[in-house]
Order: sequence, then C-alpha cells, then structure tokens
Amino acid sequence: MKGLVLSGGKGTRLRPITYTSAKQLVPVANKPVLFRVIESIRDAGIDDIGIVIGDTGEEIRNAVGNGRRWDVRITYIEQEQPLGLAHAVKISRDFLGDDRFVMFLGDNCLQGGISPLIRQFGSSSFNSQIVLKEVSDPRQFGVAELDDTGRVMRLMEKPREPRSNLALVGVYMFDHHIWEAVEAIRPSSRGELEITDAIAWLVNNGYEVHPYVHAGWWIDTGKKDDLLEANRLILEELVHDVQGYVSRDSQISGRVIIEPGAEVIHSTIRGPAVIGEHTRIINSYIGPFTSVYHHCLIEDSEVEHSIVLENSTVRDLPHRLEDSLIGRNVEIGRSPLKPRAYRLMLGDNSSVGVL
Ligand code: TTP
Repeated sequence: MKGLVLSGGKGTRLRPITYTSAKQLVPVANKPVLFRVIESIRDAGIDDIGIVIGDTGEEIRNAVGNGRRWDVRITYIEQEQPLGLAHAVKISRDFLGDDRFVMFLGDNCLQGGISPLIRQFGSSSFNSQIVLKEVSDPRQFGVAELDDTGRVMRLMEKPREPRSNLALVGVYMFDHHIWEAVEAIRPSSRGELEITDAIAWLVNNGYEVHPYVHAGWWIDTGKKDDLLEANRLILEELVHDVQGYVSRDSQISGRVIIEPGAEVIHSTIRGPAVIGEHTRIINSYIGPFTSVYHHCLIEDSEVEHSIVLENSTVRDLPHRLEDSLIGRNVEIGRSPLKPRAYRLMLGDNSSVGVL
C-alpha cells in the first residue's frame, strides 16, 4: 500500500498565518500537524508516501525532507492550482500506479487507533473505505447516508438539508477503481473536483465502499479555534517530561513538557502545557492548554489556552493572553513611547481583541 498526503490548498481560513507559511506545518502540541499525519501512515506499515504540494511546496520540502527521519520515502507531487481533493488524487496517478492507497488531508488531526484500520484495508476486498464521524452540523462537510444494514447508500458534499449526521473525515482508502471515478466526475459549483463526488461515483457504479465510524475525536485544523481545540485535545494526552531547566523558585503543576534547552525562571507553569526547545519563560504564568514552540521568550506575562509559534516574544503584558494563535517572529509588548497608544503592525486579515 502507498500513502498520499494532501498538503497544497489555499488555506484562506487561516490567514494571515497562511500568507507566509503552510498551514499543515503549524505545530499542535509542538509538532506540525503534517508530521503527525506522516507518523499515522508510517504506523500503518506504509513507507512509500507521496505529498501533494502547492504554493507552499518549498517550505514543506524543507521541513519534511526525504522522510528518512520517519524511515519512509517521500515523493513530492506538484499541484499547479488547488483544484480540489479529487484533482490532487488525479495528478498523483504516476506515483500511485495501481496500488491500493490511503489518502490523508495534511491538516487533519485524528485521535489514535486509525492505523490498524488502514492496515486491514491493504488486504481487504473493498474498493474503498471511508472514515465517518458524527457531527452536529453536517452542512459544512461531505456527508454519507447509510442504509439499515450499514452500507453506504448516498454521499453528498455540503448538503443544504443533510439526511445524516455522518461527515467524511479526512482519511480515505482506495483501490485502482478511483482512477475511473476521478476521470468521470466534473467540477462542482465551487469549481473543484470533489472527492465526495468521486466516492459517490464508486457507490453508484456498484463498487464496494466500506464505511467505518470513528469513535475518537477528529479535527480539521483549518481555522484558529479548531487548531486551539486540537491543541487542547492532544495536550490532554501529554506525558509529563521535564528536560529543560526549571529554577527552584518556579512552580510546575500538572502534566508539562519542558523541552531540552528551555528555561523556566521564577515562573508558574500549570499543565497540560508544552514549552519548546530553547524557549525562555521568565517571571510569567503559563496556563493549561498552551503550547509555546522553540526559541520564544515569554517575560512578565500570562499566557493560557494558546499556541505561540517559533521565535516570538511576549513581554510585559498587563493582561492575560488567551485563546490566541501567535505566528512566527512576532513581538508583543508594552511601548514606553508617549502618548500612550496601541502601536501595531498587523498582516492583512489579522484579528486582535483589546480590553
Ligand atoms: P481544505 O482545507 O479543504 O482547503 P484549503 O487548504 O484550500 O483551505 P481553505 O478552505 O481555508 O482555503 O483542504 C484540505 C487539505 O487538502 C489541506 O491540507 C490542503 C489540501 N488540498 C490540496 O492539497 N489540494 C487542493 O486542491 C485542495 C482544495 C486542498
């Protein structure tokens, strides 16, 4: 079996972060979502993985490399334009050949336990296997309708009046019949070749599409609040590990990771939280569900339920920073200049809430 990871796309919902970087590389609990996806595929025993890349391809290549770190072989597949998930499959035909394969969306996070399912598909007789999850508002997803015997009856992309609450999760398995399906379908009203339409074509043409309802959580990290939620859920499963330096007058409570080279000085860290390599926390409070990535400085400030990306500085904040996603190389601090005023330089589509 082979693996295919979709890591192109526009990422409009995560601007301004995605103006300068790939959303799949945003770290959740200090590990990029894309790395978690590669690990899930590797854990299913697959070592031949293709990654579809778009405008942010260079950054993805630099971060992932040839895959040796995970003992897998990575092939990059360039998609000139993000013309849909089924389009990404279509252009990967040379890489996939007639092998069975699993396709993952590179920005989706799933609670563990999916690897045995992928492994099983490798030796099953199904033409496709889809992973479903009950959701409260199915109108924003591809939705599957099952009959009384649990077989897939119908599939619809973002139905206005959904007849089921089972959404298609970002993991799909196919055999070579998918080639016929992606050739047969036409672009949807939003101009994309939809993978839901390709799977619907398989069902309508008598191929066996096996549904699996996932019991654990599933998050599409395409938006800020969903990223924070994925961060919270992954931190819930954290194993306490302090490798960096913690001064004697600091307090660590709950499950916390302090990575090598990090320093916690005269501060309180209340887990679950993770402090990245060579990050310094000075005279500060880090509250639950916070991930601070590498080479950051948090000084005289309080941060909770947030993600801070690498090389950023948060200093002298008079109020706690909460529910926030802070990008790379960001500086937040008080200005000594008079008159007292907010002095900001924000990228397009930024959002800031002030007291
Ligand atoms: P989406 O999140 O559905 O699309 P997007 O990345 O364009 O984001 P937005 O809606 O915020 O503009 O894509 C799911 C995953 O698939 C994501 O990792 C990007 C990837 N993708 C491709 O590789 N090629 C494509 O043509 C599309 C549409 C998505």
